[in-house]
Amino acid sequence: MNISARKSFQGAFKIPGDKSVTHRAIMFNAAAEGEATVTNALLGEDCLSTIRCMRALGADIRLSENTVCIRGASEFQNADCDCGNSGTTIRLLMGLVSGKNVRVTLTGDGSLSSRPMERVAAPLRLLGADIRTTNGKAPVEVYPAALTGAVIDTKVASAQVKSAILLAGLNAAGETRVREPLKSRDHTERMLSAMGADLRVEGNEVIIRPGKLHCVDVDVPADISSAAYFMALGALGGETLCKNVGVNPTRTGILKVFDQMNVRYVLENEHSVCGEPVADIRVFKSEISPVHLTKEIMPALIDEILVIAVLCAFAKGESLIEGAEELRVKESDRIATTAEMLNALGGECIPRTDGFLIRGKGTLCGGKVNSYGDHRIAMSGAVALTASQDGGEILDADCVAISFPDFYTLLNKGGISC
Ligand code: S3P
Repeated sequence: MNISARKSFQGAFKIPGDKSVTHRAIMFNAAAEGEATVTNALLGEDCLSTIRCMRALGADIRLSENTVCIRGASEFQNADCDCGNSGTTIRLLMGLVSGKNVRVTLTGDGSLSSRPMERVAAPLRLLGADIRTTNGKAPVEVYPAALTGAVIDTKVASAQVKSAILLAGLNAAGETRVREPLKSRDHTERMLSAMGADLRVEGNEVIIRPGKLHCVDVDVPADISSAAYFMALGALGGETLCKNVGVNPTRTGILKVFDQMNVRYVLENEHSVCGEPVADIRVFKSEISPVHLTKEIMPALIDEILVIAVLCAFAKGESLIEGAEELRVKESDRIATTAEMLNALGGECIPRTDGFLIRGKGTLCGGKVNSYGDHRIAMSGAVALTASQDGGEILDADCVAISFPDFYTLLNKGGISC
């Protein structure tokens, strides 16, 4: 995919629905009693994987445009579930099916099959789950087992790990407590509560008791992780407006980073939709400053670090990103692939065990970016090329369909007037 350099970039953009919220709205309703409609759903490849798996387990799911109609399956059936590229699908399902008295095999593509699954399987075993990984990875086999609640301290701040334990807790006798080292995104807690779960939150600890879920309609806000590319383009090239973006405080680390990098933005039309805070985000062309990020902020912006690294390359001076070792186990080794991307475009990015050092030169020349099939590398690379001097090419560009199928169309067409 060729990406042209542009001197200015502006407009209002309709950003697709939040991936984390769409996964949960489909998966939890498909496991609940009753019927529900999910509107403004993201029907990218990852969420289609969740739909495929929930159908295999017995739910009735119908799609039209961005609307998903679901009739929940009160009991699951034995199934082979292909989770594609989706970490959220496989990890949440490990928890959801482990107390459901079914035998389920969970598989994924090459990238997913190289990612760690013991971080979920090990705590689930503490609840009594009979769950077997393949050398710590997928395929994962789940067998029928009776679960009992426990207190679990997670080693990593991961919403996927926390959510899997909470979902297992719905089918475990007594109380299950999950404590995280840092608070990860809380869409699961919000949605399970809305669906009638007996759940309470005390700081970084979530306590759940067993019970049935009841279907609820969900209107999905736009995904701040997808908006981030157009927000960055506003800061680099003009003025952009992304409408109805989810601004759940466990997801808005990028706005705190914008404050530190002197990126000018405003939130407009702040309101709440289905228990999630939402706003329009307007970003203005800015003199970007370098930044120093440490591990405390990582859970709130982990998927945005790549495009933040692009902004660092356009700042003048040295930026340091530390405490981001989780990037090594995403869809690609994002420390290696981000550094390769920036260096291929004429930047200077030195990978470190837990992040990067970026020597920003105020500009990038352009060139070729290998996405390695990682959707967020492809989109961050496209932002970098759009703001670069000469533009260039993204290799293996189609992977954006994982989370943002219309990304290139929106990038090429530009926004409507804002
Ligand atoms: C997600 C959680 C995060 C994030 C991923 C989506 C989720 O992963 O990177 O894209 O929907 O729960 P971790 O839980 O591994 O941090």
